Amino acid sequence: MPVDFDKQAYWHDRFSTETSFEWLLGSADFISIIKPILTNLEPSSARILHIGSGTSDLQNYLRHLGFLDVTNVDYEPLATERGRELEKQAFGDVKMKYAVADATQLQLSTDKEYKFDLVVDKSTVDAVSCGGEDQVRRMASCVRRHLAPGAVWVSMSYSARRFDIDGLPFVAEVLEKVPTPKVKATDPDIFHWCYLLRPK
Ligand SMILES: C[S@@+](CC[C@H](N)C(=O)[O-])C[C@H]1O[C@@H](n2cnc3c(N)ncnc32)[C@H](O)[C@@H]1O
Repeated sequence: MPVDFDKQAYWHDRFSTETSFEWLLGSADFISIIKPILTNLEPSSARILHIGSGTSDLQNYLRHLGFLDVTNVDYEPLATERGRELEKQAFGDVKMKYAVADATQLQLSTDKEYKFDLVVDKSTVDAVSCGGEDQVRRMASCVRRHLAPGAVWVSMSYSARRFDIDGLPFVAEVLEKVPTPKVKATDPDIFHWCYLLRPK
């Protein structure tokens, strides 16, 4: 990824014209991967945190499944605007939450009891990683602090080594290795990686 992917200015420029885009894979495919985790959650009460929501429609798929307590955060205000617009287009109203927040300095509530049952990100950790391993460590510590007991973080990345970093408060396992489409049959196998991160 180009170095600018960790810079808010890059995303601001991009979202000034981009209204809808999915990184790595579409939301329907991501939802199928995390389905076993979602089925263990109670839609009417589960709290889900979606980090680096960008112009993805992932939150709409969660709402279709009955999850309304979904907090979508991004450090670029245009992304939260786009997220609200996408929800309004799909449902006619906005019921989920949208907040401007930096994943590496996340402090979503002063209420110590307000924790999430599931945290998801789709390629946000890839963008954060352009700022170096310390930034990924900061993001991981923030996610850890926002997890309820028994909760997990699911992170989608293009990198087979995204979480090969010392000092993370998580144990990472590969939930799914997703083959990317080939243009020619002779193209090499390239995968995207869906990680399940459990607190240590
Ligand atoms: C590669 S895009 C992925 C967008 C979306 N998740 C998707 O799958 O289409 C990365 C997103 O993370 C956001 N982002 C990057 N660094 C961030 C940070 N430190 N805190 C919060 N959001 C960040 C960007 O604004 C952008 O929306």
